[in-house]
Amino acid sequence: MANISVLGICGSLRRQSYNLGALQAAGELMPQGMALTITRFDAIPLFNQDLEAQAAPPAVLQLAQEIRDADAVLFASPEYNFSISGVLKNAIDWMSRQKPQPFKDKPVALMSATLGPVGGARHQYELRKVLGCLEALVMPRPEVFINLCQPKFDADVHLVDAAARKAVQDQMTAFGAWTARMLGR
Ligand SMILES: Cc1cc2nc3c(=O)[nH]c(=O)nc-3n(C[C@H](O)[C@H](O)[C@H](O)COP(=O)(O)O)c2cc1C
Repeated sequence: MANISVLGICGSLRRQSYNLGALQAAGELMPQGMALTITRFDAIPLFNQDLEAQAAPPAVLQLAQEIRDADAVLFASPEYNFSISGVLKNAIDWMSRQKPQPFKDKPVALMSATLGPVGGARHQYELRKVLGCLEALVMPRPEVFINLCQPKFDADVHLVDAAARKAVQDQMTAFGAWTARMLGR
């Protein structure tokens, strides 16, 4: 497989986030030739057009450039109240206003880990809609929903559930092929 750089974005800022653990597992389970870098966006302020009119905050410019520089983006994000976490939607709203818009034509994959029974499916479909607005190339399948996730991670938030690891591994293999196809490599 051609060398593919993937930027991991976690929709939870929590230190012991299960979604951060899922991203780390994806990095371990990626096929040879793919490499994951996980970013953080804690410093992005609440979106405000007045603030935007002054100058984009450095954390916004940094995330936008990280997305542009990556071949592909992998989101792992919790579901909050059946939808996208506020911090993630806020960061995406900032990204949507940057020029060139970083998600345009960017291959993307989604995964989620939640304590709930449907594993974040409801938020993933909301996230697909938003990323569609930004012309990202979101991989349709395979989907990864790590539901009822607490026992599937150990105390260090390492993904230990065999079925979940297999689902992540299969998705990463497909994501490599999807990215290569979307980028014409
Ligand atoms: C504000 C809030 C809303 C939540 N809403 C949902 C929900 O709609 N569905 C769900 O499965 N879990 C929900 N949860 C529980 C999350 O699945 C759980 O907190 C999970 O650990 C968050 O992911 P993280 O570990 O990556 O931070 C919610 C949690 C919070 C804090």
